Amino acid sequence: MQVGIDMGTLTGGASAKLDIEELLATRLLVQGNSGSGKSHLLRRLLEQSAQWVQQVIIDPEGDFVTLSDRYGHVVVDGERSEAELAGIADRIRRHRVSCVLTLEGLDVEQQMRAAAAFLNGMFDADREFWFPVLVVVDEAQMFAPAVGGDVSEDARKMSLGAMTNLMCRGRKRGLAGVIATQRLAKLAKNVAAEASNFLMGRTFLDIDMARAADLLGMDRRQAEMFRDLQRGNFVALGPALSRRPLPIVIGDVETSARSSSPKLMPLPDALPDVEDLIFTPDPEEFTRPIVRRAPPAPRPTTDILAELSRSTPAAMSPVGGSEPGAPSRGAEMSSEEREERLAAVLAEILGDPQAAYRTDSVLYQEFLVRARMRRVSGPPMPMGEFRRRVAISRSGVDEETAASAGWAMALDLSVRVSDDLQGVFLLLAKAALLSEECPSDHRIAKAYGTHSSRRARRLLGYFEEQGLVVVHTDFSGKRIVAFPDLEAETQPGDPNLLDVDAPTQSAAE
Ligand SMILES: Nc1ncnc2c1ncn2[C@@H]1O[C@H](COP(=O)(O)OP(=O)(O)OP(=O)(O)O)[C@@H](O)[C@H]1O
Ligand SMILES: [Mg+2]
Repeated sequence: MQVGIDMGTLTGGASAKLDIEELLATRLLVQGNSGSGKSHLLRRLLEQSAQWVQQVIIDPEGDFVTLSDRYGHVVVDGERSEAELAGIADRIRRHRVSCVLTLEGLDVEQQMRAAAAFLNGMFDADREFWFPVLVVVDEAQMFAPAVGGDVSEDARKMSLGAMTNLMCRGRKRGLAGVIATQRLAKLAKNVAAEASNFLMGRTFLDIDMARAADLLGMDRRQAEMFRDLQRGNFVALGPALSRRPLPIVIGDVETSARSSSPKLMPLPDALPDVEDLIFTPDPEEFTRPIVRRAPPAPRPTTDILAELSRSTPAAMSPVGGSEPGAPSRGAEMSSEEREERLAAVLAEILGDPQAAYRTDSVLYQEFLVRARMRRVSGPPMPMGEFRRRVAISRSGVDEETAASAGWAMALDLSVRVSDDLQGVFLLLAKAALLSEECPSDHRIAKAYGTHSSRRARRLLGYFEEQGLVVVHTDFSGKRIVAFPDLEAETQPGDPNLLDVDAPTQSAAE
């Protein structure tokens, strides 16, 4: 049966046909620089031929998964064991189902292994299932690289072997390779050479142009025409396309790629509190695992400062005691005196009205520097301890409450949230223990170092998810926060109240 699918238009307007049956026997190579329209071309080919032939797409970017809604392709996620992938590939052949193997999100070596396992699985199918399949491989230079790269030799061999099987030995088994590449010079020669049909798009580099000319049997000057091709324009040659080089313009597609070329778009209007948006973490970030992509991070400034302040008192301390009139040096400081000075430094820092909106690490650096200036002896206060003191101080707890058993329990509970959230937690716990009105969103936000009320409400939601509090509302719409473990709850408080003068700190120590 001869089926000529419509790939687009020829100069003059006639439709450009591609003979599918011939294609199954003679394979196709598409080449063109990034953005020349290769993936679009493959999509056109797949859409036009979907009703005629089974299709398998090896899709490094997950672009072709959109075929599934319209044409029923099964989407196979490549993040599976090699045995699993080979098994799926075998069943794909048995049941003659079209599919997209998406390798999005895998690293290059994993992509190569997954593609190889899948291609080999199809290749090894029992003879009775050797029905024709179009096997489309986008970014083929990745799976059949001309030279070894950063990936392991083992992965490269496996992937190159599978691609060679597809292109050189696949025909008898019904597998028809259609491969696309940005850089012909980067594609293994033996893989490229097995295609008898070509669609050549815009090509800039001489080395790619030379390879294209060799493959097409053109002289190199003739191949210069590839340089000036527009996006979506290709030169077709081969038994399934045309006996002579024929310019064609690829037609439209029905489905869209998931990714497209970047388009310029206006930036959003200037945001009022942009620093607040960027520097204030969301509560979810604390539960999100940290993915390390880079070599170990440089040492934080706070560590370096901590180390400096650790060594200085000893180094600076003159042998034999302090100078008259100078503040007493580290060595002679009693623990009470030290504590007093630390508390004074802390109160000084938190006394600044802007302190509520500074990050803890900025405050900590300031704290270390000032403690050094006051010649506070001994090891510097660790960041965790500092945050804890700031949190206690910000909660505004008085001395009597601070000495109570309820407060001790609140402190214990506060350890269950991350350092950054302890201030807010203790603020609410204090209000509950003292039967005060529930702090407003504005007040909670301030304790968290932000202006955003929305974030304040999310914090409450987060504490509730952790099972630390129960938030409810009375009939007049006022909020109550209950602490089941403390057997205490706040008085109803208006969440929308703007309390400009709310105290931000008091010396708890
Ligand atoms: N014939 C065409 N008609 C209309 N739009 C097209 C045509 N060809 C390509 N485009 C559009 O141009 C953009 C780039 O095309 P495409 O993604 O196919 O390039 P590519 O050659 O696959 O690039 P890369 O190698 O970077 O993947 C896409 O947004 C695509 O929709
Ligand atoms: Mg592409």
